Amino acid sequence: MNAGEQNKWKKAAADAAAALVEDGMVLGLGTGSTADLFIEALGRRLAADGLRITGIPTSRRTEELARASGIPLSSFAEHAQIDLTVDGADEIERGTICLIKGHGGALLREKIVAAASQRMVVIADESKLVDRLGSLVAVPVEVVRFGWQATARRLEKIGGNPSLRLGKDNTPYITDGGNFIMDCAFGPIGEPKEVAHRLDHVVGAVEHGLFLGYASEAIVGGRSGLKTYRRTGS
Ligand code: A5P
Repeated sequence: MNAGEQNKWKKAAADAAAALVEDGMVLGLGTGSTADLFIEALGRRLAADGLRITGIPTSRRTEELARASGIPLSSFAEHAQIDLTVDGADEIERGTICLIKGHGGALLREKIVAAASQRMVVIADESKLVDRLGSLVAVPVEVVRFGWQATARRLEKIGGNPSLRLGKDNTPYITDGGNFIMDCAFGPIGEPKEVAHRLDHVVGAVEHGLFLGYASEAIVGGRSGLKTYRRTGS
């Protein structure tokens, strides 16, 4: 797979998701290169079809792109519930549509938005599909800066093998919420619920990138075209 091909697959998934948007919807707008393509496609749909929608962005980066694409934005102050969220993922488990997210650094806002959504559709290219979460990437965990070394030790104790994410300038990466991210290499995860439960109880961890039970379907572009995977298990 080359980058051009991969981008074509992501775009096909993003366009298909944009076609799901209906007039009057409150939309959750994801973060990442695939979500960017969705936002651009949505901007084109709004201009062409005159849909009236409003979006709640999951990062500052998405907020900027959405504004530039002419998408009206709002927040949880105005809306308690989101009709549809469209977001990318770092890994998608076949069958369960459980996800690893956060390699773009936006997992906290992404999970707040996912948790408030009636429907979450994931868009990706086929390189993101796995049989077991943790097969390809680490699980990002957002941690508060104070005492992060102590939090790292706790993550180590539960088998997380954590490493502090660094930014381009080799200093710690800072999230939109002002926190650090520890990438936890658990390896292939047999019991994601058990790992999520442990991460939920790590003092100093704000949120983690295991998204279990949020997405109901994934639209995935690949060699043989677009495929929609629906949740079949828990
Ligand atoms: C952002 O924090 C992530 O959860 C992204 O959704 C994820 O990294 C997918 O990004 P790409 O679409 O760029 O692969």
